[in-house]
Amino acid sequence: MRGQNRFGLSAMKTLIAATIAGTMVLVSGAIYAQSVQTAPQIVPRVTGAAKPMGDVPAPPFPRPVTDDKRVMRNYPEQPPVIPHSIENYQLTLRANRCLECHRREYTEGSGAPMISVTHFMDRDGQMLADVTPRRYFCTACHVPQTDARPLVPNTFTDMKASGR
Ligand code: HEC
Ligand code: HEC
Repeated sequence: MRGQNRFGLSAMKTLIAATIAGTMVLVSGAIYAQSVQTAPQIVPRVTGAAKPMGDVPAPPFPRPVTDDKRVMRNYPEQPPVIPHSIENYQLTLRANRCLECHRREYTEGSGAPMISVTHFMDRDGQMLADVTPRRYFCTACHVPQTDARPLVPNTFTDMKASGR
């Protein structure tokens, strides 16, 4: 009797374990099948011929604005934009084409506006006789303009509009 009982119990255990395992296989199979159907296909195929590289036409260069009209500044400390062409103007350690017109001594002949007083100050506020080294490379701050369309919309509002 005892032996029979024991045999019956372990047979039952095996049956239950087999049933649970079978159910798990079925359920996970169903979940897998569904996920394969709904998963977004963001991974490129690994097999098959690759697309050949094609030529992409470069967008045309935008036209520079060179109308010689000085542009209003959007706020008092703004470096004014350059209203003339600067093509082939040399700006190196040895040569500075900009200063040949904008340096104080040359403005009478060139008719160009003089670099402002801030351009003579070193970082301690000391006045120098000529342009300070930190203002030597003009195009670090002053840039010409083109007729290119802005890449993103601009929501800038003039400080006057803020009412102060
Ligand atoms: C041949 C002389 C000449 C040269 C060289 C020159 N400029 Fe000018 N620049 C002028 C004149 C003249 C103006 C006044 C507006 C006009 O006529 O274009 C001017 C205007 C400007 C303005 C606008 C100032 C304002 O208050 O709106 C900036 C900024 C400027 N130039 C920067 C430069 C930079 C930077 C370079 C060198 C890359 C340079 N310029 C080279 C003659 C020159
Ligand atoms: C570090 C930035 C910076 C550099 C570099 C710089 N500038 Fe300026 N520039 C400014 C700012 C800011 C202003 C307007 C406020 C002021 O006058 O300081 C200005 C103003 C000017 C003006 C208008 C002056 C006036 O009184 O209307 C001219 C012209 C000018 N710069 C020419 C030049 C030239 C030429 C060079 C190169 C030798 C140069 N700048 C280098 C920032 C710079």
